[in-house]
Amino acid sequence: MDKLDIRLWTLAAKGEIVPDRSLLKTPEQIRAIKKSADLNTAVLDHVAAHIRAGMSTDEIDRLVYDFTVAHGGVPAPLNYEGFPKSVCTSVNNVICHGIPDEGEILQEGDIVNVDVSTILDGYYSDASRMFTIGRVSPRAEKLVRVTKECVELGLAQARPWGHLGDIAWAINTHARENGYSVVEDIGGHGIGLEFHEEPFVSYVTPKGSEMVLVPGMMFTIEPMINEGSPDFFIDEDNGWTVCTIDDGLSAQVEYMVLITEDGAEVLSK
Ligand code: MF3
Ligand code: CO
Repeated sequence: MDKLDIRLWTLAAKGEIVPDRSLLKTPEQIRAIKKSADLNTAVLDHVAAHIRAGMSTDEIDRLVYDFTVAHGGVPAPLNYEGFPKSVCTSVNNVICHGIPDEGEILQEGDIVNVDVSTILDGYYSDASRMFTIGRVSPRAEKLVRVTKECVELGLAQARPWGHLGDIAWAINTHARENGYSVVEDIGGHGIGLEFHEEPFVSYVTPKGSEMVLVPGMMFTIEPMINEGSPDFFIDEDNGWTVCTIDDGLSAQVEYMVLITEDGAEVLSK
């Protein structure tokens, strides 16, 4: 047992949830995963430079596929558990897992989440951004702004020997103060060696609860914020698209973070 093992073991003995050592990335793994994350961010920048009204969400899929492959990567969503496209595009009332479609044309006033996940040299990265198409309603604008604030406030709580629940608490508090709700059953995840690793990351759990944060942990901060009910249904036709139950707007922003010795580093956003 080394010093870290003893510290983890002591916390576990006190009833804390601690990560398995396999979830703590080595310096070599971190270097390789950062390359994947840099490509992931570049894909998002490429989308940001081209997204516009009149474009179909399938054109976004093509932008993502072509750019990723041209840079030696593979889009992680493609064929993941049967997902048919290279990216998730979630428009307005779609919470997440929207499937790009040539018949879905972005209109002025839409808000859209583009969720990009990349495999490079076998290492995984994942981040998403909100885009506003042309001029959007003050209502949509505020939801997108508050969602970005939620993720920043969550990130500010991400520190070694804190808890995942500290991040959730900051996010949920800010969302609720603005009259919004946080989706409960879909959340973030560990990432790096696999697309989805332990732990599951909730954004509705109390401060001080859930897994202890330890240097080397990597996971996503990706709350889904709804203007109305947090409840959702999944489109039966495709088994993927998650929609708000009340047809209200939903927004999501995703950062991929690494817990360091003195805080947290954003690897892709
Ligand atoms: N990027 C999504 C996430 O944050 C992954 C969705 S799975 C997919 O977990 F197959 F829809 F891509
Ligand atoms: Co994710």
